[in-house]
Amino acid sequence: MKDLLSVKQLNKQQVMDIFNIAKDYKTRYKAGERKFTDLKGYSILLPFFENSTRTRTSFELAGKILGADTINISASASSVKKGETLYDTAKTLEALNTDFIVIRHYMSGAPFLIAKEVKSHVINAGDGTNEHPSQAFLDAFTILEKKGKIEGLKIAIIGDILHSRVARSDSILFKKFGATVIFCAPITMLPRHTEGLTADYITTNIEEALSECDVAIFLRIQLERQEKPYFSTLNEYSAKYGLNKERLKIMKKDALIMHPGPVNRGVEIQSEIVYSNQSIILDQVENGLFVRMAIYKYLLNV
Ligand code: CP
Repeated sequence: MKDLLSVKQLNKQQVMDIFNIAKDYKTRYKAGERKFTDLKGYSILLPFFENSTRTRTSFELAGKILGADTINISASASSVKKGETLYDTAKTLEALNTDFIVIRHYMSGAPFLIAKEVKSHVINAGDGTNEHPSQAFLDAFTILEKKGKIEGLKIAIIGDILHSRVARSDSILFKKFGATVIFCAPITMLPRHTEGLTADYITTNIEEALSECDVAIFLRIQLERQEKPYFSTLNEYSAKYGLNKERLKIMKKDALIMHPGPVNRGVEIQSEIVYSNQSIILDQVENGLFVRMAIYKYLLNV
């Protein structure tokens, strides 16, 4: 497979093939094997046109652990600041003959455009409000690890769904695995046209979503994509839709709490319970490393 641009490209078995590679890497890494040679001699370019901590670091670390050379490019330090077009950026990256390009871009579809122009494997590390496939893979991998299955689970995705590439990729992937997907948000943060959306049902009632779900994924309020506020104040959003100790009590005792990060503490989740017993937010981060190692390996071999 040349590129990973969308979760739509893969069927359940192909995703499980990636998960099996990730599981193998995790087991070996945890047993003390800290260096691999699967990507020795390969190069990875990481142009990130939006900020990132988890995705960029884990894709970079994953490449280094597998033996590749990695080069970071940030938007503020790139020639995009001098007015270079996306097309010319793509041709320039192509001329460098790197094996992988892991790109995050504020424009939905940018990685698809780059992929058409270059021979390198292109990995979408988040494009605008469109998709974030590696996040969906690590979310599904972590749920499988904790629950042993995804089929039959009720997974509530809560928050700024309108602007969320994670909501899109997660919901498409969870449906492939047979989950029931619930979108929960204030009406202002729901897409205006629900055609093509992969949620089984949509509710504005947070108590309903929390009491029913086996997994609750809280989304960051994406202030940088909201040209006008979508809720009168963050305090009001938090009071009406944030997870707090009272709302935690109405969740099933074995329900999981997830967040792709970064968390706006006190907005989506009350600060004291970000890492509570039911939270697997740091497991998501840890698994991101192994899932991203597996994505490189899978793209090379399939
Ligand atoms: N989940 C996620 O994409 O986090 P970063 O923006 O830190 O990469």
